[in-house]
Amino acid sequence: MKIVMLGAPGAGKGTQAKKIAAKYGVPHISTGDILRSNVKEETPLGLKAKAYMDGGELVPDSLVLDLVIDRLAKDDAKTGYVLDGFPRTIPQAEALTEGLSKTGDKIEFAIDVNVPDENIVERMSGRRYCAKCGATPHVKYAPTKVEGVCDVCGGELTIRDDDKPETVLKRLKVYHDQTQPLIDFYEKQGVMHTVDGTKDIEEVFSDISNILEK
Ligand code: AP5
Repeated sequence: MKIVMLGAPGAGKGTQAKKIAAKYGVPHISTGDILRSNVKEETPLGLKAKAYMDGGELVPDSLVLDLVIDRLAKDDAKTGYVLDGFPRTIPQAEALTEGLSKTGDKIEFAIDVNVPDENIVERMSGRRYCAKCGATPHVKYAPTKVEGVCDVCGGELTIRDDDKPETVLKRLKVYHDQTQPLIDFYEKQGVMHTVDGTKDIEEVFSDISNILEK
């Protein structure tokens, strides 16, 4: 099962990708999480990526492609994965298609979690982030048992540096300019599906499960 998640920042790609990974036993590969962990560890990649991420810009394709190629080569990704946050530009999608075609492979499902821009800023203002395990609870829609503490690992919850309203607006613009064209790209490959991301988390997941199990 090879799946690509598409959707605006904060649409719920990560939330749904984690649920898909747990139900179908495939790894959840989030370029955002991998980049954030590199920023935290101050690796050479993290040091290069930080300014782009904090400004709501995309990290250059050349930096992201290598890290995805390395990750997809690991054993646990041999039979499938759910890609979250990649591809994000047409050159990234073309590189992925080309890389997979070398082994006769292809993306089987591209799923767009569709949420209108007007809902996004409100949703992002309530998101919390656990740097230890990557969980993304929400103060209103997915609250934790204890405020400020991750339910999954007990880590401290913070607010992501790029979730300030002005950065979210920039990320939305970047999404419309550079990532939304991928919907057309995957439609042409006959694998595109759209779900209504304004429904509650479990309803969205049920719609996605129906697509994957059809
Ligand atoms: P990344 O981490 O990929 O950020 P994003 O795409 O902007 O997506 P988010 O993680 O912000 O949101 P999401 O859709 O996963 O929503 P979530 O599930 O958390 O990338 C960050 C940065 O890294 C980029 O800006 C770029 O700089 C760089 N980068 C990453 N990949 C790159 C690439 N391939 N190329 C170049 N640069 C790259 O949900 C949001 C909140 O809403 C949560 O609190 C959640 O609990 C809640 N929620 C989820 N679903 C629902 C629902 N149905 N109803 C109510 N609340 C919900």
